[in-house]
Amino acid sequence: MAPVNPVRVTERAQKLATDILRPGDIAVDGTAGKGRDTACLAQAVGSSGHVHAFDIQAEAVASTRNLLEVAGLLDRVSVHLRSHAELAEVLTPAQQGKVGVALFNLGYLPGGNPDIITRPDSTQAALEAAFDALRPGGRLICVAYTGHPGGSEESDVVLKFAEAHAAAGRHVEKIGYYPTPGKPWILVVDKPTA
Ligand SMILES: C[S@@+](CC[C@H](N)C(=O)[O-])C[C@H]1O[C@@H](n2cnc3c(N)ncnc32)[C@H](O)[C@@H]1O
Repeated sequence: MAPVNPVRVTERAQKLATDILRPGDIAVDGTAGKGRDTACLAQAVGSSGHVHAFDIQAEAVASTRNLLEVAGLLDRVSVHLRSHAELAEVLTPAQQGKVGVALFNLGYLPGGNPDIITRPDSTQAALEAAFDALRPGGRLICVAYTGHPGGSEESDVVLKFAEAHAAAGRHVEKIGYYPTPGKPWILVVDKPTA
């Protein structure tokens, strides 16, 4: 399997999301960071859709809100200063099972504190909650990194999640999984349409 170019990995993940999203959809950005993925999702769901974005750092929430405001997209996004593991508590009952795409870009905030990273336990809880929240035909996308301390352990959790879904007969892709140590890879899990 060809390695994923780290420069293009986020673009590839965004394309995997926009291939699925339709105007009016609900989307989740599990790791808002600087807000670039959130803005992409917000554009794809249109003015009738909604995005829930999560980050545990106030700096990331502020960056994301700023980017969305400048782009004219803030009105269709809720930016939450809380862990993605609390996803199920944030979605309204009407939004549960209606999410078109849940996107995670793990690791640390670019240019931020490299010690504040996504962690295996909360990542696992968030991936499970996100998959549960998908609508039929919805897609979970997770960009995982192995080059920073703790990254390999977290990737192992993502891989186990992938294997469990593959064993349950779901469509699972592992794009660039460990062809080159230290490089990112992308997990895609699609929820069956029926
Ligand atoms: C690689 S960055 C995300 C980049 C972002 N998607 C963008 O477009 O700029 C990872 C982010 O995950 C956040 N994070 C770490 N643990 C988290 C958690 N439990 N819940 C939500 N976000 C978390 C970090 O604060 C960091 O901002």
